[in-house]
Amino acid sequence: MRKPLVVGNWKMNLTAEKAMSLARSIAKQVDGLGEKVDVVLAPALPWLLPVEGVLGRSTHAMLGVQDADAGVVGAQTGSVSMGMLKPHASYVIIGHSERRLARKETHQTINAKIIDALKRGLTPIVCVGEFVHLYDTSRKRGRPTKLEAESNIYMQIRRALKDVPEGDISKVVVSYEPVWAIGTGEPADPAYVSQVVRKLRRTVARLGGKRRATRMRVLYGGSVTAKNARDYASLKEIDGVLVGAASLDAKAFGKIVATFADIKQS
Ligand code: PGA
Repeated sequence: MRKPLVVGNWKMNLTAEKAMSLARSIAKQVDGLGEKVDVVLAPALPWLLPVEGVLGRSTHAMLGVQDADAGVVGAQTGSVSMGMLKPHASYVIIGHSERRLARKETHQTINAKIIDALKRGLTPIVCVGEFVHLYDTSRKRGRPTKLEAESNIYMQIRRALKDVPEGDISKVVVSYEPVWAIGTGEPADPAYVSQVVRKLRRTVARLGGKRRATRMRVLYGGSVTAKNARDYASLKEIDGVLVGAASLDAKAFGKIVATFADIKQS
């Protein structure tokens, strides 16, 4: 049984006070659901410790970070390492398209971060997703553009998991996030999502065996709301969601968590 997982990615939002108050409200909303669903909040890095203080020893929600660098300590101005964050966070988001695109993160960087996260005992949430609508039939024939080529999510996952010890593969969480669905209010069609995720698991099975691929948790991300959460929770291929905008609203986020608790248990 794969335990459902709902992640709130707060991105570059909120003040320290607002982050603490949101964490407090979410903890209330998800009270009692922790047995059924893993809930992870990923605040902006400076608010990680204040939010940790608010959550205290509560088991309502765990902490995640939106990114981290490989390693522990070193002469790297501006970097924060997995090793430094491990005492405070359980999960780390790696390879979000906003970092792949705006920060030019490469497959190699993402792969190194995943291997390091596993080594430090953080659970990596690896985001993959096509940058452009590959299935757009209006696309002109000819050589694919660089962006289109980089949009192959099966290649993204293969390169992300390169040299990850086979025994660690099922510890990785994959979040399938088509870029055109992120922050656009245009979520991907659930039937399409389940088709892609089935193929993603087959790709992972080729790397680490079917049993490990079956145990791995796969999320969907992109314009998930309290209203459409049920559509994704009903898919047997999906174990949870990564939520951006709607995770800044305690009620909406609480409802998404409750939906997964409800549907995945029945
Ligand atoms: P969104 O973000 O829910 O605001 O679309 C999702 C994401 O960044 O994965």
